This record gives sequence, C-alpha cells and structure tokens, in this order.
Amino acid sequence: MKAWTFARYGGPEVLEWSDLPDPVPGKGEIVTRVVAAALNPLDWKLRAGQYKVMTAGRLPRGVGYDYAGVVEAVGEGVTRLKPGDAVAGIVNPVDSRNAAMAERVCATEALATVKPAALSFPDAASLPGAGITAVQALREAGLAAGQRVLVVGAAGGVGSFAVQWAKIAGAHVTAVASAGGQAFLAGLSPDRAIDYSVTDWKALPERFDIVFDASGTTTFPQCRRLLAPGGAFVHSLPGAALYCWSWWMKLTAKERVMPVMERPNLADLQALVDMATDGRLKSVVTRVGRPEEVPDLQREMALGHNRGKIVVRFAPDP
Ligand SMILES: NC(=O)c1ccc[n+]([C@@H]2O[C@H](COP(=O)([O-])OP(=O)(O)OC[C@H]3O[C@@H](n4cnc5c(N)ncnc54)[C@H](OP(=O)(O)O)[C@@H]3O)[C@@H](O)[C@H]2O)c1
Repeated sequence: MKAWTFARYGGPEVLEWSDLPDPVPGKGEIVTRVVAAALNPLDWKLRAGQYKVMTAGRLPRGVGYDYAGVVEAVGEGVTRLKPGDAVAGIVNPVDSRNAAMAERVCATEALATVKPAALSFPDAASLPGAGITAVQALREAGLAAGQRVLVVGAAGGVGSFAVQWAKIAGAHVTAVASAGGQAFLAGLSPDRAIDYSVTDWKALPERFDIVFDASGTTTFPQCRRLLAPGGAFVHSLPGAALYCWSWWMKLTAKERVMPVMERPNLADLQALVDMATDGRLKSVVTRVGRPEEVPDLQREMALGHNRGKIVVRFAPDP
C-alpha cells in the first residue's frame, strides 16, 4: 500500500509517498481502507521535530491520526466491528508508527466507531482530534447552559467545534477570528463574532465564565481580566508558564487555569458522530484535497490561519 511517511525531521520536503506492506491487524486492532483522513497541526509539528519526545526512536513513521473508511480485516478479540463496516476513528499519535494518511490504517478498535450512512466520509474524518479536544476542554472547564463563553481561534479546527459545542450546550458564545475567518465563522452561528484585526477583544468590558484559547496564541496574563469570578481559562497549547499559572491559581484564587491535553476517547468521538449525523453539529470541512497535495496542505496549515478542517480523500466512497 501507499502511505505518507517521514524518515527525518524537516519541512514538507521530507515527506515521502512510500510503498509499505499492507498492515496486518494485531490483537484488538482493525485494518481500515482509508476513504478520508483529516489534517491536524500535530502532523506538521511532529514532522518538523517539535515533539521529539513523542517520536524519538520511532522514525520512519506515518502522518495523520483522524480517519474514516471501511474495515477490511480485524484482529483477535475484536468484537464490535467487522469487515465491511464503515467507521470513523483515531490513531494514537504517541504509540503508533502506522498512521492515517495512507491507503490503509491499522488502529485499535477501542478508538473507532461505526459511521452512519448519513454522515459523509470527509465529515466523519474531520471529527476526532479537533472535536474531542474541544469537547474535553469545555467539559473540564465546567460548560453549562447560560454561561458566557469566549472562543479565540474560533475559525480553526478546534475552535469551530468549540463554538458549536458551546452553543449546543446553551451557552452565549463570543467567537474571535481574523477578518479572513469571519465568513466561515458566520456559518457556525456564534452569538457574537469579533474580528481581532478591528477589535481588541482582550479589552472587552464584559466578563466570561470560560475563555477558551483554541488557537494557543495567548497567555493567561493577557486574558485574566476577562474572567468572571470562578471562571476558567482554557488553553490548547500549554507550556511551562501555563502549568505554573494553573498551580498558582489553584492555591490563590477561585479562577482556574486549565491546560488542555487531548485524550483520545471513544465516548467523546461517539457523541461527536451522533451530533454530526443528526445535523446538530454542522460540517466544518473547508477543503477536500488529493493524496499528492499533503505536503502543500501541511505547508498551508503551518502558516497558522486555517479554516475548519482540511481533509484528504484517499479512495472514492465505496
Ligand atoms: N493540547 C492538545 O491536546 C491539542 C489538541 C489539538 C490541537 N492542539 C493545538 O491547538 C492549536 C489549534 O489547533 P487547531 O487544530 O484548531 O489549528 P488550526 O485549524 O490550524 O487553527 C488555528 C487557528 O488559530 C487562529 N489564529 C492564529 N493566530 C491567531 C491569533 N493571533 N489570535 C487569534 N487566533 C489566531 C487561526 O485563524 P485566524 O485566521 O482567525 O487567525 C486559525 O483558525 C494548535 O497549536 C494545535 O497544535 C492542541
């Protein structure tokens, strides 16, 4: 089979469209013929060598973690899924050399679910990584109906799911994006959209129960004054400073600082699939590319102004 891989760290030019043996499912694993796979910033960050702790000793390795396709083979102990099932799933990026930007992916059954016919393969592939991150971030922040929620980076992958998830929960949502993100954002129906090139959202007079920086571009001191008493600041790209703030605020204040670290989880994926299937969650797929475009698509995503989800189609719908 063909798969995108890299054997050394670097720019998109280190990516190779490699010939690999077809994967064979091990215990608890399924092999899926990939119809669509979604891009995430983690793809290009791992390729660039930003998180060597996750990849040390594991090169060459594949690219991409979110997939949708049709199960071809199952390993020992697989009980829920069977060959022929259409599925959406996620590959654990830490422990897998095998990845989703490929003709076939071998992944654990525990992180895959049946894809209903009403949900397209590209939409199903768009859900896992960014969707689960948004759901977990807002849940841990204590999302509830009637709250005021501010989402920064609202037109990106995580942000576009967060805006919708908070609206579904009955929150009042203020969404922040660049001028170029406003048209896309309007389709997600936030209560208010702010263009950060025109309005300094950090100086807004109101207070929020949750400030979710889904873009990972701000610091807690920049956002602190926006928090209502007992409010939560959630950040998708935690570094040492944020963990220090989190610890310090636990000791000294009612407000919380919460680093987000996505934990691939079947129940959260299932909730996203259910809501996308019944239409409560709108599609955020803004582009469906071809396999040969993966290096260019990664290059574009690394510029930092992505809209919604970019998906690559590896096979026609069965
Ligand atoms: N911790 C975790 O487990 C986890 C999980 C998933 C993602 N992440 C990280 O979270 C970040 C976002 O992920 P993603 O998938 O949503 O990425 P994405 O699809 O590339 O979107 C990033 C968004 O950030 C916005 N942005 C860039 N600069 C900004 C600024 N100065 N102010 C406000 N918004 C800005 C961009 O849109 P504009 O054009 O509007 O600027 C873009 O829509 C990435 O760094 C990713 O690695 C972490």
